[in-house]
Amino acid sequence: MFDTCLEFLRASKNFKKFRVTPQNILIIGGSGFLGSQLAWQLTKDGHFLRLPTRRRERVKHLLTLPTSEVIEANVHDPTQLEALVAGQDAIISMVGILRGGTGHPYGAGFARAHVELPRKIAAVAQAAGVRRVIHVSALKAAADAPSGYLRSKAAGEKVLQEAGLDLTIFRPSVIFGPGDQFLNVFASLLKALPFLPLACPNARFQPIWVEDVAACIASSLTQPGSIGQTYELCGPSRYTLRHLVNYVGKVIGERRPILALTDRLSYLQALAAEFVPGAPMTRDNYYSMQLPNVCETGCGLPFGRTSTAMEVIAPAYLTDQRGRADNDALRKKAGR
Ligand SMILES: NC(=O)c1ccc[n+]([C@@H]2O[C@H](COP(=O)([O-])OP(=O)(O)OC[C@H]3O[C@@H](n4cnc5c(N)ncnc54)[C@H](OP(=O)(O)O)[C@@H]3O)[C@@H](O)[C@H]2O)c1
Repeated sequence: MFDTCLEFLRASKNFKKFRVTPQNILIIGGSGFLGSQLAWQLTKDGHFLRLPTRRRERVKHLLTLPTSEVIEANVHDPTQLEALVAGQDAIISMVGILRGGTGHPYGAGFARAHVELPRKIAAVAQAAGVRRVIHVSALKAAADAPSGYLRSKAAGEKVLQEAGLDLTIFRPSVIFGPGDQFLNVFASLLKALPFLPLACPNARFQPIWVEDVAACIASSLTQPGSIGQTYELCGPSRYTLRHLVNYVGKVIGERRPILALTDRLSYLQALAAEFVPGAPMTRDNYYSMQLPNVCETGCGLPFGRTSTAMEVIAPAYLTDQRGRADNDALRKKAGR
């Protein structure tokens, strides 16, 4: 009998059809927007995946991936984390949240998800002898950044860097693609409102396609030279937020007047939005947008890859909103 999926695959006559040596990979945070794309990419490459989630029923789209195991788990619990890491060749750490709440210099939620969780991952990886770790951070993460989100992301990187693992870090700019919480949000707002009061209209972004981010992460698994490296990931073009919103309006045929808020009003809008259920924006988001979310090194991707233009990808999914909106409405109705 075979002890692991990997042994089974190595013995199988299908083994040769895969381009890379298959590995057992745990993706922590692999059930989200980027993680789902990465899971699909790594499954295509022939790897065996373990995908923990807090609510299995929300990630049914991953259940059909043939070599993936979706497991309902609490990754913050060291015992459960230890069980998840057992038998894995690599760990991809990509839990991220945008609302950190209060109660800590970073916000208690940021401290837990972006710093304490990487600390637990490092400890469990060391104990299990799993050396290879890939971590998804965020562009402009820095100890002195203006937002708790970016400071906590920097602290999480540091924790992993100090653990002596075979570590690669990715720092993407904002990510676009079907199901994103970026261009899709503006599309929804433009459809719902007669005009759009826009906070931080001059904030700068260099959006990158979700498939490009996933492809870079997948490539790093086969690139020993990526160990010890930190890669910034950006798309080919830089935009202001105002330009992006205008672009979305044009694509979906819902051009609306944009009321560009001053800096003071942007802050007040963010403050007010914290009291709206789901907090669509927070002051911490406002602070993050004080830094240009663009790559210092231009738009080159690692491993010889070229980034894909937003204009090539976004129109197709922005003009096909119905399926996702229906799914979201049904899920909400079912309380999931
Ligand atoms: N999307 C972007 O534009 C962007 C830009 C730069 C960097 N990033 C970084 O890329 C990573 C992936 O982002 P994403 O957009 O794919 O995020 P996402 O769609 O919100 O997915 C978040 C993932 O983290 C898990 N998660 C969230 N809160 C958690 C918690 N408190 N405890 C345990 N697990 C939790 C979710 O698992 P469940 O299934 O349990 O909900 C899910 O797998 C994050 O680290 C993010 O900071 C994203």
